[in-house]
Amino acid sequence: MSSLNIIVLAAGNSTRLKSEKTKVLHPICGRPMLDYVLAAAKSLKPKSIALVLGHGRESVVEHLKVQGAHKNFLKLAHQKERRGTAHAAMTGLKALGSISGRVLILSGDVPLIETATLRALLRITGKKALGLVTALLPDPQHYGRILRDETGRIYGIVEEKNANAAQRQINEINAGIYCVQADFLKASLKKIRANAKTKEFYLTDLVSLAIQSDRDVAAHSLSNPHEIMGANTRAELAFLNLYAQDLLVGNHLAHGVGMQDPDGVYVDFGVKIGADSYLGSGVQLLGNTRIGTGCTIEPGCILHDSVLGNGVTVKAYSYLESCQVKARATLGPFARVRPDSVIGEGAKVGNFVELKKTHLGAGAKANHLSYLGDTKVGRGANIGAGTITCNYDGWHKFVTVIGDDAFIGSDTQLIAPVQVGKGAYVASGTTVTKRVPPGALAVSRVPQRNVADWARKKNLRNKKKPRAK
Ligand code: UD1
Ligand code: CA
Repeated sequence: MSSLNIIVLAAGNSTRLKSEKTKVLHPICGRPMLDYVLAAAKSLKPKSIALVLGHGRESVVEHLKVQGAHKNFLKLAHQKERRGTAHAAMTGLKALGSISGRVLILSGDVPLIETATLRALLRITGKKALGLVTALLPDPQHYGRILRDETGRIYGIVEEKNANAAQRQINEINAGIYCVQADFLKASLKKIRANAKTKEFYLTDLVSLAIQSDRDVAAHSLSNPHEIMGANTRAELAFLNLYAQDLLVGNHLAHGVGMQDPDGVYVDFGVKIGADSYLGSGVQLLGNTRIGTGCTIEPGCILHDSVLGNGVTVKAYSYLESCQVKARATLGPFARVRPDSVIGEGAKVGNFVELKKTHLGAGAKANHLSYLGDTKVGRGANIGAGTITCNYDGWHKFVTVIGDDAFIGSDTQLIAPVQVGKGAYVASGTTVTKRVPPGALAVSRVPQRNVADWARKKNLRNKKKPRAK
């Protein structure tokens, strides 16, 4: 059984983000920061993880419940007042109960930390009192700076707020990630005093305390500083997004996904794309979207939580939400597919067609300018241009059922609830208000009459009247 325990500090507020939302729930590529940190923590198979929450605690607990992560491996600790990172660590330590061995302390707002880095930290810390992760940043603003003596030995960390001009020039920063022997941590946290200037208890004081008691401090210095970048401001959050996006896109390219412009596509964490699929510029694949193999998604399409089979084509500027598209179907350009719709194998949804809670059978077509809501369309049916299902009476939604191979002429309105039988025809311009039996033709048009010479007479009448202004 592992003797490693982990504390994740996540009680801070979103002051610098200027957000109502709890900081650690802000997403990076669609995934809350906290989920990255917890995944990295879990990958080390620790004995337990204490998650220190404060500001917006309820929303985090709710998020964890939705994920089912709640009780399994986490001990939730409540830091009632935000009194600094050392105070937060103490709150986490209490939640862990009686422990020995080493404690890894992670920051909830340093989401892209890699498991390999954490393993390296554990390795270099060994039996030393304390290990920490540092990085050289060209622009170290806002971070705590690492203080080293002339022999290169670390003897302290100074926060930017407390640093003098010379210390501010230091490029080596503290990543806020520590590995500490439990006994040293317990003893030291009691000794940390509030900072005179900020009144906060700084966890970074562990370094000077270790030096004072002649204990060793190990540092793992990163050559790639991106993974330890914090997300304290909107700008930093945006930067982390770009960085994470780059990694994700690179990974999809490596797995055989073609892209017109890799910098111009946006793919959320967890999206799956089959090999030989191709993404046009400006495509966004969001949430739990899954794309089969050999699909083409043309420029400007946005897909949320949608599942596409193999060989699907989504033409330019289409918008799909929570829908399922079966193999070889074609959608767009400018198609809008709303939640709970299923597009059957080889079916076609053309330009300016909106579907909502609609099931389109295999090979069915709705090629132009239509609205199909709460509708079940059979296999091979043809929905003519301008067909509208009138599914809402202001109070309730009603279902339209169209049988296999039925032919709905252009400019038809179907007043739901209504059914069109298998192989039936609906003449163009018909308003269908009652069931059409299989194989029948429904026509509700007023017969056309032509009035001879009508135009000339109208003009004559008009010439006698003054012109409207
Ligand atoms: C901290 C470090 C700084 C380091 C930086 C790296 C301290 C004093 N400073 O600064 O040296 O360069 O991280 O990202 O530790 N938190 C609590 N309760 C609190 C205060 C903070 O849980 O009372 C949590 C926050 O939610 C956050 C983490 O601790 O996840 C770090 O706190 P934050 O205020 O972001 O510290 P920084 O100013 O970034
Ligand atoms: Ca921070």
